[in-house]
Amino acid sequence: MAKNYHVAIVGATGAVGIELLRVMERRNFPVANLRLLASHRSAGKKLAFRDEDIAIAALDENSFAGIDLAFFSAGSETARKFAPLAQRAGALVIDNSSGFRMEEDVPLVIPEVNPEDVRTHRGIIANPNCTTAVALMALCPLHRAFGLRRVFAASYQAVSGSGARAIAELKTQVEASVSGGSASPKIYPHPIAFNVLPHVDSFLANGYTREEMKLQTEGRKMMHLPEFRASVTCVRVPVYRAHAVALSAEFERPVLVERARAVLAEAPGLDLVDDPAGNGYPTPLEAAGKDNCQAGRLRLDCAFENGLALWVVGDQLLKGAALNAVQIAELL
Ligand code: A2P
Repeated sequence: MAKNYHVAIVGATGAVGIELLRVMERRNFPVANLRLLASHRSAGKKLAFRDEDIAIAALDENSFAGIDLAFFSAGSETARKFAPLAQRAGALVIDNSSGFRMEEDVPLVIPEVNPEDVRTHRGIIANPNCTTAVALMALCPLHRAFGLRRVFAASYQAVSGSGARAIAELKTQVEASVSGGSASPKIYPHPIAFNVLPHVDSFLANGYTREEMKLQTEGRKMMHLPEFRASVTCVRVPVYRAHAVALSAEFERPVLVERARAVLAEAPGLDLVDDPAGNGYPTPLEAAGKDNCQAGRLRLDCAFENGLALWVVGDQLLKGAALNAVQIAELL
């Protein structure tokens, strides 16, 4: 009989934490018991899992006794401090933050891209950045077919990527705005309602943001492609859920659009939605809540030699976070 696991979720009250509960329910994840952890602000509140209401405990040094598997989704600071404690207590950590992603002995895994890398773990496995995950669901199969060299991209990222409080901020600002008032920004430096912000994560010395460099750094690690280059502009848009990415990709070998369509139609975890004549292309509203990412708008790139332009959309709380984390655990 399959083993049932003692599972903890750190950051259970967050946008990704809540999704983890739902994904484990849907996929019938073998849970013997579940420990929900968050900050002291949430201690005592309850969340439903299957037929049970489970009380949330404040995260502390002793939270991981008896835990086999700990999903972390509470930011990199919390992960840096508590993941080693969980590891020492004997739990396998799957961390959603950027805290450990680029460490050499921490595998960074998308099951459809580099499943074999999970085997090298030493107690911590990292989940990739959400935009990177969505983009690679299409780029990696294309890489296998044509040999990926470099990418120019712009992302259109939903506010739920900044957590539950950012969803509330967009809602408050939209409501204030349509009733003729205004609500001052707290999470973002400018209003996000009826606006777009070319600013996701903090700025680096090279002028890019941290988020913008992740497609290159994390893409190199997961595709085992040290020469891969990606120039990205990440944009926050007033969408609740699902990230979109416009990609122009250059390949080693010539690309045929029909062949690229066939490759993506076969790719696991991805649906091809590419019927421009019938207004068929992926949108965040369509992709939200779905496990599979979607790709469309495939065309020969008119600026690159062996180039393909395309549009990829995916629910970043699912494939970009909770679903991918649970799939990693299932792989093991
Ligand atoms: P809490 O709700 O108690 O603040 P989001 O990404 O949606 O903002 O969610 C972040 C998650 O991380 C929440 O569950 C939040 O709990 C949790 N969290 C944030 N800071 C800490 C901390 N220092 N210790 C434990 N959990 C934390």
